[in-house]
Amino acid sequence: MIRVEGGRPLRGTVRAAGSKNAVLPAVMASLLTTEPVILENVPHLLDVESAVALARALGKEATWQDSVIVLTGGGELAQEAPPALVQRMRASFLALGPLLARTKEAWMPLPGGCAIGPRPVDLHLMGLRRLGASLDLRGGTVHAQAARLKGTTVYLDYPSVGATEQLLLAAALAHGTTSIVNPSREPEVVDLADLLAAMGAEVTWWGDRITICGQASLGGAVHRVIPDRVEAGTYVLAGAITRGEVTVEGARPDHLDALLAKLSEAGATVETDGDRITVGVDGRPEAVNVQTLPYPGFPTDLQPPMIAFLSTARGRSTVRETVFASRFNYVGALARMGAQIRVSGDTVLTDGVETLRGAEVEATDIRAGAALVLAALAAADRTEIRGEEHIARGYADLPGGLRRLGAEVWAAD
Ligand code: EPZ
Repeated sequence: MIRVEGGRPLRGTVRAAGSKNAVLPAVMASLLTTEPVILENVPHLLDVESAVALARALGKEATWQDSVIVLTGGGELAQEAPPALVQRMRASFLALGPLLARTKEAWMPLPGGCAIGPRPVDLHLMGLRRLGASLDLRGGTVHAQAARLKGTTVYLDYPSVGATEQLLLAAALAHGTTSIVNPSREPEVVDLADLLAAMGAEVTWWGDRITICGQASLGGAVHRVIPDRVEAGTYVLAGAITRGEVTVEGARPDHLDALLAKLSEAGATVETDGDRITVGVDGRPEAVNVQTLPYPGFPTDLQPPMIAFLSTARGRSTVRETVFASRFNYVGALARMGAQIRVSGDTVLTDGVETLRGAEVEATDIRAGAALVLAALAAADRTEIRGEEHIARGYADLPGGLRRLGAEVWAAD
């Protein structure tokens, strides 16, 4: 449980950690080679531990020292992913493409649904079939076979992050060139493409597609993962909701244009300088309207923390969630903290209140948990947040980082 005594403006500087959603596919990329893959700037997160455990279970050796993971071996890969590991974390499903490309036959359990709506993988499977794999689903497990994956053109009905990553990973060892039309352009996907290029795949971004020329085998690489834009955005929103001023260093401001534009529109002062972002709010911010979209649109992962911030702005804000079917299950908890907030279809409407009240609340996923922590920082008294294990999946010591900014936040048992 996380205990928060709110009502204090946060001030100071924190350093952005490496991106969770960049390092997870990067660990899966190491399955494509037997040469060493060295990942730097790796955050200490439960999800990263799960990804490393899966890589080891599939036959890789892995060492993790400070923020560097070294992945070696993998001459003989297992053909079956342990269901418990795949159920624990959806990104484990990205092991399917590399396993299939290396072992020609693989069994991969379907990933667990998450608290943010149904999480289908139909685009992953459609793309692998287009690359020549035969797939059948039996009892919640995908049985995949492919003598040799063959490059082709794959059109994605939706620019899915996971499907784009799955196909890049599989196509890197396919025979010939693969074009993914309407790919995700999230920075984490670009980072994976950069890693695959460093491993020897020929990757080119075009206006409407990405092409990757598969190789018979891939080499190793040393790769520094990009900073975590969602963690950085969460910290600047913590400063904004408490009417303070927070600087995040070691960040990529260009990955947060949509958030920073909306914070400026709300009346915050926003300064960026190289790898530093500073956001300050003095007095009451103004309501704004937001809709989440694929990158460079407003990131869905910052929708919950942004709504927490807007629940104390002046006026009515509307936030439309267009990426996930239902990512509002923290709204009830915000209402219990005094927010004037309601869900109407795919949109949340909130009439900002002066201050929120502390309460006992429960986090149901990583970013919902972050939203409740931010709301608690703005509340005038004590909040107790259960479900902190969700938060630890995506934030390396959020309470510690917030304490360094002057917040009274503790992880209690
Ligand atoms: C990635 O999830 C991230 N996770 C998510 O972050 C992030 O919210 C999401 O991308 C969108 O940016 C990782 O990178 C590990 P999608 P992913 O495939 O790959 C539908 C966090 O908190 N869809 O782009 O699952 C899907 O249902 C997590 O760090 C299909 O219909 O996202 C959703 O509505 C949460 N069929 C939409 O596309 C498919 O085959 C976006 O999903 C695949 C997806």
